Amino acid sequence: MDTLSLRCVVPSLPCLALALLTSCSSINPLGHDSKGPLPRPPRPLPHADTKFAWGISTASYQYEDPAVKPGDKEYFSTDWDIMVSKGGAPKKGDALSSWTHFEKDLDALKKTGVTHYRFSLEWARIEPRMGEFNEGALDRYVAMARRLKAAGIEPVVCLWHFTFPDWLYDQKNPKASNWLHPKARERWLVYLDKVLPRLAPYTNYFAPQNEPNGQITTAYLVGQWPPAMTLALGTYWKAIDASTGMFRDAAARIKKVKPTAKVVSVEALPWWERSPLDPGGLFYNTMIHGNIDHLDRVWDVCDIIGINYYYSQVASPTSFISEAWRRGHNYTMMGWRIDPAGLYKEIRRVGDRYGKPMMITENGIATPNDSKRVWYMKNHLAAIGRAIRDGYDVRGYFSWSLADNYEWHYGYKAKFGLATMDSQTCDRILKPSAYKFRDTIRSTKTSGDVGKLQPSDGFKKMPLKP
Ligand code: BGC
Repeated sequence: MDTLSLRCVVPSLPCLALALLTSCSSINPLGHDSKGPLPRPPRPLPHADTKFAWGISTASYQYEDPAVKPGDKEYFSTDWDIMVSKGGAPKKGDALSSWTHFEKDLDALKKTGVTHYRFSLEWARIEPRMGEFNEGALDRYVAMARRLKAAGIEPVVCLWHFTFPDWLYDQKNPKASNWLHPKARERWLVYLDKVLPRLAPYTNYFAPQNEPNGQITTAYLVGQWPPAMTLALGTYWKAIDASTGMFRDAAARIKKVKPTAKVVSVEALPWWERSPLDPGGLFYNTMIHGNIDHLDRVWDVCDIIGINYYYSQVASPTSFISEAWRRGHNYTMMGWRIDPAGLYKEIRRVGDRYGKPMMITENGIATPNDSKRVWYMKNHLAAIGRAIRDGYDVRGYFSWSLADNYEWHYGYKAKFGLATMDSQTCDRILKPSAYKFRDTIRSTKTSGDVGKLQPSDGFKKMPLKP
């Protein structure tokens, strides 16, 4: 879940407290400015017409079945499983059974005609206990990359997508968990040395982390994700430091193992708007900080800046709270505001700030109404087209997601998929939006082609529900 926006499943006290703190305080509650390499001066880069990457993104925890049970040698568990076991999030079960049925994912991907596929490795599965590796699991991930390559689909391997092995989680001392566990960095290095040389022969794109900015905000300020700390500003900064250090470790090792591989950052980057309820702009500035604190410290080691964009939001206390009941025409079933123009503005901002090639590494809509999804995708692609026409170097678009999956706190309620799953056979059943996506991919090969995409006529024609 893109959580940087402090999306609240239900209006929560921490959100309100943060909101009040930020709009009343005369200081930035997140404290000091970002450290690290300063972003480059603004300007779009001149760029050539490049082959456009058409992809789909998924994540191990949201797709894979365990295929092992407590007591099995290969049994593993994550910090999220601990939270589920305490009733802090919906049960996951076997999700899309993608561990057992990767073939079915691959078939569905082939039908859409995508050129790229982003999936993630479950660290806990590869290293179920500290220092103990499941070689079979790693072989399996390598085989996935190999199979994709053989099918003409470029794997984009994400090394961490929100979940940590349970052995990095100290239930008695949340402050010393996950990023901040005393062994985290040391173990991360061992993990990198284990997985990178194995995957490198089949992988040209590595994403060290998925939305660390959103995860850290939700874990240390909102208190919704493990280790569930609320407004822990000092710990927030320590986690930013630790995660950026680990990102930079990964980037360096990726280049060492395969100098030609591309390092992709993947950050939650919703578009924020100022509100009259936030006259000093403190709330707005806080949100912007939350977006870029991590990226400002790693952009220089990235070849491609990945933008996960879903919506725009007014940065005000009330807009977070009203998310719980906002529905209808302009919103998704999670209450996120649909705003393709926000993506256009976000691309300009990221392009100007970092001056690097970009990819939209996630974009999608939770809706049971698939024609709304078609509209959403068409108009977000048109927004990318507009940015390309303006000279911004966007090289790819990844839809979130292949099939309806386990959506963190929303469980299985949020329908983001281009496909559904038949619960008996586990077959992936493509929705009409998947075929529309395929048609776009077939007719749009380069960034220049994407630059010609146009929006469909107005919002009015969009399906009303939900
Ligand atoms: C996350 C995904 C999530 C999606 C929709 C992204 O922020 O990377 O894991 O499912 O948003 O909420």
